[in-house]
Amino acid sequence: MKAITAISTLCFLLSCSPEPVKNMKDLEQSMMDLKAYQENLGEGIRACRLEDSRWLLDGMDSTLRTVAATITEHHRMDKPFAYYKKRLLDKPLSELESAFDDNDTAKARAQYVILVDKCNKCHLDLEIDKEVKY
Ligand code: HEC
Repeated sequence: MKAITAISTLCFLLSCSPEPVKNMKDLEQSMMDLKAYQENLGEGIRACRLEDSRWLLDGMDSTLRTVAATITEHHRMDKPFAYYKKRLLDKPLSELESAFDDNDTAKARAQYVILVDKCNKCHLDLEIDKEVKY
């Protein structure tokens, strides 16, 4: 009983709840978050700051995971976001990670360009008039 009280108090303090997440961001807000990560990632890679860039990649990755888990329907998409993520982004994201592991700046630059191309590919396919810049 004590344990249960402790857990619910903790939940209250951390304001977690068993209900589905209410403050779920919509796709547009998440895309703005992605843009911020992507721009800083590009800057970091260009400046050869691969350690900082890794944090940004992690942030982008967790944003993408959240979007993939929550956005299953959207008026601009025929399929859940997870489908596009897997098809377009997973490969360059893991290649970037391995470039960071190897401290390989040339590979990181090349994979960053591919990543941005894939962001744009999805926008083009779905007729979203938004060009992601390198
Ligand atoms: C599902 C394929 C898909 C992928 C992959 C994708 N986007 Fe988007 N993006 C969208 C859709 C759909 C919208 C329009 C959202 C809306 O208007 O509700 C959008 C909109 C945007 C916007 C405009 C948001 C605004 O409010 O003006 C930005 C910026 C953006 N995406 C950045 C990115 C970046 C950076 C990446 C790559 C890391 C990316 N997107 C990858 C589908 C995608």
